[in-house]
Amino acid sequence: MALQTISPLLRYFFLFFFLFLVSDAHHSLADTQPVCESKPPPKDLPVHPRDVDLMQFALNLEHTETEWFLFGALGYGLDNVEPELAMGGPPPVGTRKARLDNVTRRIIEEFGYQEVGHLRAIKKTVGGFPRPLINLSKHNFEQIFDEAFGYSLSPPFDPYIDSLNYLLASYVIPYVGLVAYVGTNPNIEGYVTKRLLAGLLAVEAGQDAVIRALLYERAKETVPPYDITVAEFTDRISDLRNRLAMCGVRDEGLIVPLELGAEQRTTSNILSADRNSLGYGRTPEEVLRIVYGTGNEHVPGGFLPAGGNGVIARKLLGDG
Ligand SMILES: *[C@@H]1O[C@H](CO)[C@@H](O)[C@H](O)[C@H]1NC(C)=O
Ligand SMILES: *[C@@H]1O[C@H](CO)[C@@H](O)[C@H](O)[C@H]1NC(C)=O
Repeated sequence: MALQTISPLLRYFFLFFFLFLVSDAHHSLADTQPVCESKPPPKDLPVHPRDVDLMQFALNLEHTETEWFLFGALGYGLDNVEPELAMGGPPPVGTRKARLDNVTRRIIEEFGYQEVGHLRAIKKTVGGFPRPLINLSKHNFEQIFDEAFGYSLSPPFDPYIDSLNYLLASYVIPYVGLVAYVGTNPNIEGYVTKRLLAGLLAVEAGQDAVIRALLYERAKETVPPYDITVAEFTDRISDLRNRLAMCGVRDEGLIVPLELGAEQRTTSNILSADRNSLGYGRTPEEVLRIVYGTGNEHVPGGFLPAGGNGVIARKLLGDG
């Protein structure tokens, strides 16, 4: 039906109806546009120059987690997924695909890709440095677990042999990232950097919670072939980290004495947190004492045999 054949009255009706629609749409959009971003605080910088070294420091842990999770799930790492994010740093050593059940593998694969996003977000916001040398060899975990128990496990602990061992080994890493972010937060000044940190912290905490919840379901089982429960493994690893960091208890296993539980009323401890159930924080020095495995931020080793990269870690190693 051509427009001319419509009666003039109807034509006016359509015209007004159309104008009404347009003006109404415009009106309601302007009035009820949902607010999706908070306004930046007045006068503050998006990224303060003092944020840069602090946020870049996190790349040491994020790189380690990236290779640990990607290799564990897929048998390859950052160099196959997004090689430019390595910025020419050496490939990790001792990495392997773990023998995981399907559900665990999917979870770990997701975590691995999440870490790639974290690397990209940090490097885009505050710049970055090349991937440090990362040692994820079975032998390295073997030493950590022996040190945690104070004697040599027999047979030596192998993180790659099955899902349970891989999750126990995973208990060792993301938690350190989480407490590092909590510790860094008060020193961050830029609002964009703060947003970045909160986003990273949220997902690291989520990863740690998933790992701990999966382990908690099996807390009372023994880890074959040892006569040691899952809960005791977590206890010993948390103790080791507390000892290496040398700053009291900022790390707790899955089953604790009542005084360490939530409101001192639970012995389950699926999340490690302080008296008010707030996440513990650690300084870069504490973090390095743990990931170097040496208890000394000036002496590299463990996961980072050549030391961490970036201004904070390099200064502590005497080449800043
Ligand atoms: C695990 O996934 C593989 C590959 O997708 C499949 O062939 C296998 O049947 C799955 N195993 C179980 C127990 O679901
Ligand atoms: C990785 O760690 C193991 C165990 O400590 C060690 O034997 C090996 O030499 C380390 N590799 C590198 C490249 O540091």
